[in-house]
Amino acid sequence: MGNRARIAVLVSGGGTNLQALIDAQHSGIINSGEIVLVISSQPTAFALERARKAGVDSAVAYKKELGSHEAFEAKIRSLIDEYKIDLIVLAGFMSILSEDFTKAYPKRILNVHPSLIPSFCGAGFYGLRVHEAALSYGVKVTGATVHFVNEIPDGGEIVMQKAVEIKDGDTAEVLQKRVMEEAEWKILPAAVEKISKEIMDAKGNN
Ligand code: GAR
Repeated sequence: MGNRARIAVLVSGGGTNLQALIDAQHSGIINSGEIVLVISSQPTAFALERARKAGVDSAVAYKKELGSHEAFEAKIRSLIDEYKIDLIVLAGFMSILSEDFTKAYPKRILNVHPSLIPSFCGAGFYGLRVHEAALSYGVKVTGATVHFVNEIPDGGEIVMQKAVEIKDGDTAEVLQKRVMEEAEWKILPAAVEKISKEIMDAKGNN
């Protein structure tokens, strides 16, 4: 057994949050955990390129090709087993995991969501849609949340949050970028380090 928590990062798209985790590992912000695997739900995700560049193993679990949600989750679970993963991080992962899946990893799955939960979250709130909803409601403050994943979409225990100001004239794209830069890319690495350390401490590596 190594002295770092073994982390799998699940992605679907651009992977800027994955990049923030890779960078945090290089700079030492994350040192209780190590990203050993990236799993993408999309074969063309740029996140896969980021994994390759960082020398991290990657795999694709593509629902369309696998034929069903059950087969999709089974593939992810077999990779998690194969790589002896301690912590699963959803970083822009655009599939909702079943209760069967989440129950198998209690307090071992983290997700980053681009709002202050319980606002603008749950099924249907993902990516730019979250920021569009915040702007159309007219809130003046939004932010990001890192939480444990359970069977309720965006409903698990909150680990970290950070608020971000909304400015006059913001578009969803401008707001998304500010939320990423000021909140997501900071609290996701910090939360991953915190939980990795707790996992390793519990294993007796303190
Ligand atoms: C991020 O803003 C992430 O918080 C969000 O999608 C974006 C992915 O960007 N996730 C969700 O909306 C999940 N409900 P990235 O691929 O560049 O990290």
